[in-house]
Amino acid sequence: MYRIGKEEAEAAARVIESGQLFFVNDGFQEVKNFEREWAEKIGTEYSILLTSGTGALISALVGLGVGPGDEVIVPGYTFMASASAVLAVGAIPVLAEIDETMTIDVKDVEKKITDKTKCIIPVHICGFPCNMDAIMEIAKKHNLLVLEDACQADGGKYKGRRLGSIGNAGAFSFNYFKLISCGEGGAVVTNDRKVYERAAIYHDSGCAFRPYSGEFSEPFFMGMQLRSNEVMGAIMRVQLTRMDDIIANLKETKAKLIAGLADEKKITIIPSHDIEGDLGSNLGFRFATAEEGAKFAEMAKAEGFDGYLVANSGKHIYYNWDPIMKHLGSHCEALNPYALPQNKGLCMEYSDDMLPQTLDLVNRTYHINLKCDRSDEEIQKMIDTIKKFCAQL
Ligand SMILES: Cc1ncc(COP(=O)(O)O)c(C=O)c1O
Repeated sequence: MYRIGKEEAEAAARVIESGQLFFVNDGFQEVKNFEREWAEKIGTEYSILLTSGTGALISALVGLGVGPGDEVIVPGYTFMASASAVLAVGAIPVLAEIDETMTIDVKDVEKKITDKTKCIIPVHICGFPCNMDAIMEIAKKHNLLVLEDACQADGGKYKGRRLGSIGNAGAFSFNYFKLISCGEGGAVVTNDRKVYERAAIYHDSGCAFRPYSGEFSEPFFMGMQLRSNEVMGAIMRVQLTRMDDIIANLKETKAKLIAGLADEKKITIIPSHDIEGDLGSNLGFRFATAEEGAKFAEMAKAEGFDGYLVANSGKHIYYNWDPIMKHLGSHCEALNPYALPQNKGLCMEYSDDMLPQTLDLVNRTYHINLKCDRSDEEIQKMIDTIKKFCAQL
């Protein structure tokens, strides 16, 4: 959450005072309107507002028809949900390296493709756009689906197109830490009617409540209850009006930091697949060695400087993903994708050192989560502090 205030409070109050909190009531149509406005903003035909980014990823995978017998390629640096969503639909996550931009390495993706690969999940981590041209080309060549995990990139772009709109489907998160937020929430987008209908059925208990589900051609299979409510819809509609200004503000701050650090020899600003489309929510820079990265992180921590060595980002690094690394893919063995007969022979061997390029990068890269409305003095102080730490390396 970057900016929130009176407008969101008033929008939520209007819904509460109306007494119509359920999303299919006739009067207020906040969820329905948000879905239309979000699809318009992202540039897709369809959008579904639901309870989380994880729910969005799972619903999208269901929509795409991914399930047992399928391998799905996921980067080794992302929040664990990108990979656990794959397990939730009964498929197997196959881990790929990241490149210097901290997003999925397309060369390694090609190496990881087998005749069982069904889908690639590029993750626009920290708002850094993935190499979407190359990913879409690989997908076309090998007849694969692409689900963009844009959970950390609400509103970002790649070559002028909004992230999430380029693959077969996109997933967003609106949890508290995201660019726009209603506390917890998420969205699925797609241009494919079949994917939309299947994701809609899944997120709505087998489509028990959507009034227009009568128009669907897909059969109603069993789903989950991942529906949003009118208060969420009302808050998100206001948040959406703030999104582009937030991005512009963050990008300005990031540009000033990059300019101010340009002459610092100890670090290199990480490259981008599209700096214009970058969300501006995070600054990443890299040291020549892991030792320097660790020493910088130690000094920064001691002074309460707000940033982190990527290797220390917990469940964002594959070796900390216990359900995957230890094959604990379900609450009971009979439903565990790692034990399903359909998944026998799929790539499911993992080890702590299986992605050496990713390990090297996360140990040398430091990220700073940028906040909105930084003054020039605050930005200069950040630059000075980073340079001060660098001088002690
Ligand atoms: C890359 C990524 N994917 C998926 C998710 C899951 O989103 P949520 O927490 O809304 O379920 C997150 C959340 O932090 C994320 O960062």
